[in-house]
Amino acid sequence: MPDLTTPKLPIYLDHAATTPCDPRVVEAMLPYFTSIFGNPGSRNHRFGWEAEEGVDKARRQVAALIKSDEKEVIFTSGATESNNLAIRGAAIMYEKAPEGSGKSRGHIISCAIEHKAVLDPCKRLQKEGFEVTFLDPPKDGIVTAEMVKAALRDDTVLVTLMYANNEIGTINEIAQIGELCKSRDVIFHTDATQWVGKMPTDVYADNVDLMSFSSHKIYGPKGVGGLFVRRKRPRVRLTPLVDGGGQERGFRSGTLNVTGIVGLGKACEIAGQEMAADAIRLGKLRKKLEDSITSRLDTCQINGHREKRLPHITNISFGFVEGESLMMAIKEIACSSGSACTSASLEPSYVLKNIGVGDDLAHSSLRLSLGRWTTEQEIDYSIEKIVTAVKKLRDLSPLYDMHKEGIDLSKVEWAHH
Ligand SMILES: Cc1ncc(COP(=O)(O)O)c(C=O)c1O
Repeated sequence: MPDLTTPKLPIYLDHAATTPCDPRVVEAMLPYFTSIFGNPGSRNHRFGWEAEEGVDKARRQVAALIKSDEKEVIFTSGATESNNLAIRGAAIMYEKAPEGSGKSRGHIISCAIEHKAVLDPCKRLQKEGFEVTFLDPPKDGIVTAEMVKAALRDDTVLVTLMYANNEIGTINEIAQIGELCKSRDVIFHTDATQWVGKMPTDVYADNVDLMSFSSHKIYGPKGVGGLFVRRKRPRVRLTPLVDGGGQERGFRSGTLNVTGIVGLGKACEIAGQEMAADAIRLGKLRKKLEDSITSRLDTCQINGHREKRLPHITNISFGFVEGESLMMAIKEIACSSGSACTSASLEPSYVLKNIGVGDDLAHSSLRLSLGRWTTEQEIDYSIEKIVTAVKKLRDLSPLYDMHKEGIDLSKVEWAHH
């Protein structure tokens, strides 16, 4: 029996955007604001050494989660910076011809449904003389090794593809792509922001050279993240974005965000212990959410591959409802819609558009992402709320009436005024 008592409102189903900080993480961070406040770069006194010990411990905690060597972990301000450092840093370091030579500086492979924090650094490099292939994803959203193989060229310097998509949760063929890149001596970066801390990660098994991740997606604080930079076979070099004191092996100068780093470390330790159980529990809750909605409502679709995706994210489009009205009707549920606010207008999500979801359906899509403290009661409540809202909106829709009468709306000749 579903539990229909009202949970505490609003309900947070937007964990792919950010997660609350785990209280155990906050507890680990607290001493680093006040008593252990030293600069880890201060080599001459205890204050510095203690801060450095905190950072070292965090580095070990991160490395344990992603199965790397601790020396390969570079701390940054988040996945956006990690992506910029990896993409720009590698492209410029491994360029085939210098800027201004009139020749192509090298070729990069990415995909049209990457996060903006990957697309935009790639586009900037394009303006600066690199050639970029943005792969066109198939309907299921999954980039395969075959697709990458077909796009590889002799002058390809970098392949950058996300581990799992932030809007639809689909998982790319990372291990196969890693193997392919290794066999062709091409640097392989993956934006694993939605993957690390949720699913088992093994950078060597996947033949990844560079991997970005972020603390605030895994119950750690905001404004801190990391980049795995491989040190052996090959030893990856990067041109830094920020020069200065030479911290983080010279890849990222600036006094370390010690409290944030300690929090990220603790978040990784907890993830290592709890992510397997979380994934099973959240997978069951998502199944309930999807099954209930799709069995009680017609004309709705789940976007992206049904199996090869993260267990805690679903993206559902509802036909015959208007996106804004739907969001208004389910205000108590904090989630993302398939519309992105640009300066002037509401644009349909480019991710959904690129996997072939039409503009109307993209606008009336919801991304619901579950997290560590999502309860069954919250899911039951959300199901009722969404189903009721969609039914109500459809009751007002003449198009839905026509659809139910069996009229093929694509063949209707509308009067133009
Ligand atoms: C796939 C992906 N990459 C990068 C980012 C940016 O991460 P951060 O907020 O740590 O800069 C996000 C988060 O929005 C993301 O989902």
